[in-house]
Amino acid sequence: MNKLEINEVAPRDGLQIESRFVETEEKVRLINSLSQSGLKRIEASSFTSPKAIPNLRDAAEVIKAVERRSGVLITALVPNQKGCERALACDVDEINMVMSASESHSRVNLRMTPEQSLDQLQGIVGMLKGTGVFGNASISTAFGCPFEGFLPESQILSVVESLLKIGVDGITLCDTTGMANPAQVRRLCETVLTEWPETPFTLHFHNTRGMGLANALSAWQAGITRFDASLGGLGGCPYAPGATGNVCTEDLVHMFEQMGVETGVDLDVLLAASGMLPDLVGHDVPGQVVKAGKADRRYSMPENSV
Ligand code: COA
Ligand code: ZN
Repeated sequence: MNKLEINEVAPRDGLQIESRFVETEEKVRLINSLSQSGLKRIEASSFTSPKAIPNLRDAAEVIKAVERRSGVLITALVPNQKGCERALACDVDEINMVMSASESHSRVNLRMTPEQSLDQLQGIVGMLKGTGVFGNASISTAFGCPFEGFLPESQILSVVESLLKIGVDGITLCDTTGMANPAQVRRLCETVLTEWPETPFTLHFHNTRGMGLANALSAWQAGITRFDASLGGLGGCPYAPGATGNVCTEDLVHMFEQMGVETGVDLDVLLAASGMLPDLVGHDVPGQVVKAGKADRRYSMPENSV
């Protein structure tokens, strides 16, 4: 069985939607704990307009301050060439470009049409040439848009094709507001893996309607081995109405490990990091394993049992 690659997105997708700004040192502390868990990649922040995403206005300070561990790639989300310039100045290992498949979400979230976005991303790919920095592209609303509903699969495939044509190295299909269901996920994953077998595809799910883990399982059954997930199940796009948390990293790791699928992640380290979250964000978080304990947890029998 192929080993999974789990990308942690809590410092970016998680913290961008919180009602309060998490202090730079706290963000760095969170990322440093996460980087001890065996996660392949950490999306540490985003280089977006500070007006659009004020919570991540300290992206440069965060990324310059985090401990760089060998084997843990630091990536950042960027919507345009300005963001890429800022990210490269911080020596990120990878860039995660973003565009939306849906015209409406693109206009609201990025203030650009998908065509304008693609132009920006083409410029970014040009900037990355010769740097050795991996250029991934995330496609928002790939499984449905909160304004337009479900998009035809052909529309998503055409975005994938355009991105590969401009030269991105990998693609993430994002279910921005948890509209995907396992049958839909399986179909799209099988199609892209058949059509573009050499391209690294990552799946990014939100658990908005309780289908996050089922969708991840379905993607894995279709042959996907790369997943985004967020510690504690934090997350959501501030420009997608109804958006809530990503699939929870520790719950995802726990599910796959229980199934005997290697994740490379030390779940105990992850659970300890997850335990920091309620203090950090000031509220309870959706993750379940951190509350229930792992499936091998055993309780002592009540004293009065027969
Ligand atoms: N980093 C920092 N500042 C940026 C920037 C970036 N990547 N891109 C633009 N700006 C600044 C410009 O310099 C300009 O500043 P000024 O007002 O001081 O002159 C201002 O933002 C407006 O620039 P403009 O190019 O007109 O951007 P916009 O207002 O049309 O916004 C985006 C476009 C893409 C920058 C903005 O919508 C954005 O950052 N969206 C990200 C949304 C997001 O991350 N959503 C969640 C993840 S999917
Ligand atoms: Zn997301």
